[in-house]
Amino acid sequence: MSGPGGSAGPQRATASIPIRPLGRVVAITSGKGGVGKTFVAANLAAALARRGQRVLLLDAYLGLTNLDSALNLIQTSSLHDVFTGKADLGQAIIQAPGGFSVLLAGLGLLEHARLTPDVRDEFLRVIASLAPRYDLVLLDTGAGISDVVLFSVSLASVVLLVATPELSALSDAYATVKVLAGQQKRSRIHLVVNHTARLGDGRAIAAQLQQVLDRYVVSEPGQGIRLSHLADIPADAAARQAAVGRQLLWRTAPACPSALAVEQLACRLEETVLIAQA
Ligand SMILES: Nc1ncnc2c1ncn2[C@@H]1O[C@H](COP(=O)(O)OP(=O)(O)OP(=O)(O)O)[C@@H](O)[C@H]1O
Ligand SMILES: [Mg+2]
Repeated sequence: MSGPGGSAGPQRATASIPIRPLGRVVAITSGKGGVGKTFVAANLAAALARRGQRVLLLDAYLGLTNLDSALNLIQTSSLHDVFTGKADLGQAIIQAPGGFSVLLAGLGLLEHARLTPDVRDEFLRVIASLAPRYDLVLLDTGAGISDVVLFSVSLASVVLLVATPELSALSDAYATVKVLAGQQKRSRIHLVVNHTARLGDGRAIAAQLQQVLDRYVVSEPGQGIRLSHLADIPADAAARQAAVGRQLLWRTAPACPSALAVEQLACRLEETVLIAQA
């Protein structure tokens, strides 16, 4: 992980420079890995599509993608091919079974897993040209605070931070919010608590995290950072089974508790994006 404030000049600096976020671009990120970002991103994309939104799900986990297997898609062209000029965006964007578009990262992106100036420029070019073509662009990012993750998050006007009730996921979520407040001057982060066991788990966790943030983190001088608790998604056997079968929930278990929670999240996200754009 490279530290904040990299060594290169202003054009070359990466995560430390706040890029102007693009409206309608939503980053789905987390402090700890494996907390359900891809699960949330893929099922949320399908839920938004069913609500009539034109959605692009972009695999921003350069290097270690698992979106292709979550969606049971066979890779043809990918972001990697776009970056290297082997394909154009029209060839690389494919349709997922849930009625949304997908741009997969591609295995070759291992060599792009570091945020070099070229990767940064290509990434920016691709997202800036795609964002106006969709109602919503969801970025399924990697976990943590690496340059690539922070850069992709910096492009989004809305950040969904996925955490679980596990202590390590919460402390990593805190660390991520702290960095986003400091480097990107974010004043609001949207929290999705996944794998909850009981009703009210998420609310309690959000309140606890907010307390710590109020005490230790400021974004702009004198301004705190606000966690907005968007949704709880229960730990659900149907979600696990859908993942094993590489299916989305609307297909295998549309009325299971996690599917209903994702539907609700889709509804709240629409409102949030509208407010962020106002
Ligand atoms: N609410 C849930 N109930 C049960 N299983 C879940 C739930 N959410 C996610 N999972 C399962 O947890 C596993 C990890 O989820 P996922 O791959 O989405 O995590 P991730 O945050 O994208 O991981 P990475 O950081 O590696 O990208 C998957 O098998 C997924 O189906
Ligand atoms: Mg993932």
